[in-house]
Amino acid sequence: MTYDETTLAQLRDDAADIVSRYPVKRSALLPMLHLVQSVDGFVSPDGIRFCAERLDLSAAEVSAVATFYTQYKRRPNGEYQVGVCVNTLCAVMGGDRIWDELSEHVGVGNDETTADGKVTLERLECNAACDYAPVMMVNWEFFDNQTPDSAKQVVDDLRAGKDVAPTRGPAKVCTFKEVSRVLAGFDDGRANEDQGVGAPTLAGVKAAKAQGWKEGKK
Ligand code: FES
Repeated sequence: MTYDETTLAQLRDDAADIVSRYPVKRSALLPMLHLVQSVDGFVSPDGIRFCAERLDLSAAEVSAVATFYTQYKRRPNGEYQVGVCVNTLCAVMGGDRIWDELSEHVGVGNDETTADGKVTLERLECNAACDYAPVMMVNWEFFDNQTPDSAKQVVDDLRAGKDVAPTRGPAKVCTFKEVSRVLAGFDDGRANEDQGVGAPTLAGVKAAKAQGWKEGKK
């Protein structure tokens, strides 16, 4: 492995913390892969070897899991993972247009990264946020009710190094490495910064209550 001594020591400490949360070592693999991404920006060959060594697995077993989930990246990822939902509802509400214009604007396609290493574009399937269609996500933070122009502005600001806030809260978008560390289970203390769901998501519940509907019957 090519990690320097300091990085390797920190990785080992963090891995011990993660492994201690599970009754069986191998159960820690998913957060361990996020931990590797928080250091390398993707699941690197070194990261695979590190996970295998810490969890008593083979490199092939670690690779098999890492290649199954789209959140694990197999080559250096952009600082910001920008996903545009192109599933049915978002697509008809403008998601397809956002994708076309954004992709042309930054000059990269699906799962490709801009030359400055800032942005990786991704065509997303439904994010269960259809009532805010069309939606975009940056490092898994929601940007609701987007337009081609608002999407391009978000990406331009990210590439210019400006602070960018998702539409559901004041929290500044984290980098891919920062959010990977949170996904590995290390709290950054910012979980309560966003505003949670808004009125459109609760509209169905309110209508059901107003009508006196019970589960399974009107
Ligand atoms: S179709 Fe885009 S969030 Fe559901």
